[in-house]
Amino acid sequence: MPKLPAPPVPAPLKAPPARPGEGNGKVAPVDHGRNAGVAVVDWVDERTSLSGGARWLMFRKVPKGTNWFYTLGSATMFAFLSQAVTGVFLAMYYRPDPSGGAYESIRHVTNEVFLGQFVRGMHKWGSSVMVILVFLHMGRTFFFGAYKYPRELNWVIGVVLLILTMLMSFTGYLLPFDQRAYWATIVGTNINGTGPLLGPYLSDFLRAGPEFGATTLSRFYAIHMLLVPGAIAALIGAHLYLVTKLGTTAPPWLKAEKDPELRKAEA
Ligand code: HEM
Repeated sequence: MPKLPAPPVPAPLKAPPARPGEGNGKVAPVDHGRNAGVAVVDWVDERTSLSGGARWLMFRKVPKGTNWFYTLGSATMFAFLSQAVTGVFLAMYYRPDPSGGAYESIRHVTNEVFLGQFVRGMHKWGSSVMVILVFLHMGRTFFFGAYKYPRELNWVIGVVLLILTMLMSFTGYLLPFDQRAYWATIVGTNINGTGPLLGPYLSDFLRAGPEFGATTLSRFYAIHMLLVPGAIAALIGAHLYLVTKLGTTAPPWLKAEKDPELRKAEA
């Protein structure tokens, strides 16, 4: 693969020039701290060359007119990361046991575990936040025409991310295993089953068999905490790679500036 040229180090990251009076042998504690930080980063960078990639990802030119609507993608990513972190803590207590254990473990987290209700609340409300943000982000990219050449593939990856986000909500809804979760999921899997061709196979896969049974909860849990988050993380990586490589779309109301040569020729 051809080596990507690393952009120059941005001015704020460069070491400042020595001030008059500096270099008299005395090093302030704060400089010791700063030098130690730089030394650690240098040590890692010398062995990995990661700083070039980090600069390539973060220090990019963005089009004129970039506005708050362009933050919706990053906001969606933040919501996903928050779900991942809170989900890990919930998984430390959750038991996917359909004969009362699942419901009991959720009750335990909510009522007895320190900050359990808070973490569970963040995960529960955070799921709605992520769904709302992903739709707003899709709306932004649609209305700004960001799905057009050369960003079609990023749109397609986005569509898969949207479906996976909905699948996260669907599979997570069953996990408390109360009456509402149970019956809503039966309705949901039955609706899936009515889809053309693949529908019946899909609902059999989700239920782990033709009937809603003892293994359905484990199946939903595995999909919810392993399969789909892994796929979302990988696809976000591909999505961001393409955003960095192709750059973002300028707002549609901006006209491209004329080439100065062309302007001179026309005058
Ligand atoms: C988990 C879900 C998603 C995450 C974390 C995510 C993240 C991002 C980020 C950080 C950007 C760059 C900044 C921005 O324009 O907002 C971006 C751009 C983009 N996203 Fe997403 N996205 C997601 C879902 C989607 C969906 C559902 C679609 C459309 C179906 C989509 C289509 C695009 C396109 C076309 C761009 C390029 C925008 C441009 O060139 O201006 N994304 N995404």
